[in-house]
Amino acid sequence: MAITHDKGIFTLNTKNSTYQMQADSFGCLLHLYYGRRTEGVTSWGLKFMDRGFSGNPTPDRTYSLDVLPQEFPTQGTGDYRTPGLIVRDSEGIYGVVLHYKGFEILEGKYSLKGLPAVHAEDAQTLAITLEDKRIGLTVKLLYGVLPEKDIITRSVIVRNDGSKPVTVMKLASSCLDFTHGKFDLITFQGRHTMERQFQRQSLSHGQFTVGSRRGMSSHQFNPFVILADHDATETAGRCWGMQFVYSGGFLAEAELDQYSQTRLMMGLAQEKFAYPLKPGEELAGPEVIMTFSSEGLGKLSHNYHACIRENVCRDTRPSPIVLNTWEALYFNFDGRKILEVAQSAKGLGVDMLVLDDGWFMNRNDDNRALGDWTADEAKLGCTLGELVRDVNSLGLKFGLWVEPEMISEDSDLFRAHPDWAMTVPHERPVLGRNQLVLDMSRREVREYVYGAIAGILSQGNIEYLKWDYNRSIAAVYSRTSDSQGKVMYDYMLGLYEVLERLHEKYPEVLIEGCAGGGGRFDAGMLYYTPQIWCSDNTDALDRMNIHYGTSFGYPVSTIAAHVSTCPNHQTGRTTPLKTRYTVSMAGGFGYELNPLTLTEEERREIAGQVLQYRTDREIITEGMYYRLSNPFEESYCAWEYVSRNGSKALVNAVIPYNHGNMPLVYVVLRGLSGGTFYRDIGTGKIYPSDALMDAGLPLEMPKGDCEAFTFRLERV
Ligand code: GLA
Repeated sequence: MAITHDKGIFTLNTKNSTYQMQADSFGCLLHLYYGRRTEGVTSWGLKFMDRGFSGNPTPDRTYSLDVLPQEFPTQGTGDYRTPGLIVRDSEGIYGVVLHYKGFEILEGKYSLKGLPAVHAEDAQTLAITLEDKRIGLTVKLLYGVLPEKDIITRSVIVRNDGSKPVTVMKLASSCLDFTHGKFDLITFQGRHTMERQFQRQSLSHGQFTVGSRRGMSSHQFNPFVILADHDATETAGRCWGMQFVYSGGFLAEAELDQYSQTRLMMGLAQEKFAYPLKPGEELAGPEVIMTFSSEGLGKLSHNYHACIRENVCRDTRPSPIVLNTWEALYFNFDGRKILEVAQSAKGLGVDMLVLDDGWFMNRNDDNRALGDWTADEAKLGCTLGELVRDVNSLGLKFGLWVEPEMISEDSDLFRAHPDWAMTVPHERPVLGRNQLVLDMSRREVREYVYGAIAGILSQGNIEYLKWDYNRSIAAVYSRTSDSQGKVMYDYMLGLYEVLERLHEKYPEVLIEGCAGGGGRFDAGMLYYTPQIWCSDNTDALDRMNIHYGTSFGYPVSTIAAHVSTCPNHQTGRTTPLKTRYTVSMAGGFGYELNPLTLTEEERREIAGQVLQYRTDREIITEGMYYRLSNPFEESYCAWEYVSRNGSKALVNAVIPYNHGNMPLVYVVLRGLSGGTFYRDIGTGKIYPSDALMDAGLPLEMPKGDCEAFTFRLERV
């Protein structure tokens, strides 16, 4: 049994972790433990004493929620730390006091209406009900336990069972309280073309928050955080992760309080949020995926990789190797050029041509036409269906770029429905890439978007869509909503509804997520789009660091990465073709360059890469992924894939900068079968596995900057 309940104590067990909480005699749900798998009850850690200026809900001065570890802290209980729930009642009073009411243990994993969530066969659900009798609020805490995956998910449903309306002002989905410990917080910060840069800092007294108020999970901070023992490394130490299954605004908060206790929390962004609940209505907090590792960050990542790949993504087919036209042609093409590129790409061995932006009416730059999803037949020289057919007849699949949630002021759609854009009345709208955001909280808008995409798909054998999203939301105003405080959340539900309908109607169409690259690289999108264009930055060195950060929470199978031309269009840097390929070997692999401009030598090299990738794809997308160095701290970046049965390993390394008389770099491997031998397929040399995981493999001295090294090993 993964979930048990005994004398008020709830125990959630996974293979390597235990989570415990207790409904105490005051009716409060206290958090007891989340750590290594253990037997018995861990409540001995609770200490009760009179603490000055810490409120007491009863005359017992030794009982204060300001001090005790809690499962779901609310504002107004005398706990002055970060609350997970803030509610304003009909009289404007803030404050919720929740008391334990009951629980249910269910077989299988709960799902959340309208929201993406982990799906699993081998799982159990615990639902604990809490209530505030004064305002008539029922709070259901949901816990999903995937024992074999070492995963515990959390979500919360708030229901107004009272007779008057209330407004939810803040909603977190998960909270973890630690009574002691010296922790670092790891977050992934960035910007457009430089997403998910690894950042680790020790917590000091006060609050540290990351989040997004952009209506998208954002390039700036990823909705994924790790709390780690100060001395935790890749291979040792305790760490806890929280990953939000949501693509809109979020808030992750870490607080070190007056008694050096730590609280970690993840939930919806608080800003621009005030969700009214009429009697009988409810609101679900998006899911948080948690995991615990006592074997360092590598194991924590493995837990997430398996969960995202098998329990979040729903399409596990291998992705096609693509040639994408964006960096190859931008807007400068016609139908004939596309076919020439396709023919040339076919000769390189790729599977699919992806026609990026610029294929629809008036879209010859990025200032107009979004919303008018009618193919520009004059530019293409044929219908979209004919183009798809012609590409198919070259032996290539066809994929297409769309940006369905947007509307340009200069578009027929805007001229017909200016009110469909999220703008504030009588105010000049804030533009982003000269475009506005469609109000996805409105049914008629969703119908239009669904109809437009279905209409495109009906025109030919389109097997892939790149679903883009190229600005943040600024104005939060919906002309039809009864409350502006719910628009951000309802927007996201609207988007998910359209994606779900498309998933049901066109299960065979692969949708790649994109938001100006990795601006919505989150588990919410991965539920609908099993791969995401990781960044608009295709420079090998920058991408290497972006992939490093991304790998902490997301499997390589979800990362879309393309080899592009040099000098690189984002950084102006020139890197060897081999290095670009080495870094781009990921789940959504492809090329984003003009094959017509390649030299014969480059064509031969690329054709070889494509063949090689086909051989390596399984180990890359299904193997275990190991980070072998931290490129932010070391002079090289190395990473490794090991097949599930340990029989093969693929090791990649890049030395970004060459220096005079450099020290040798030794790449120390991991995850091999102990006590065995591995043959380097390239050289035929045989190495003892334990020595490879101890002494490592020396890299040759680089002959220039950005040199890449690859070893393919097989167990003998
Ligand atoms: C975004 C995407 C790019 C490309 C352009 C097209 O920036 O991230 O890959 O598709 O839009 O306009």
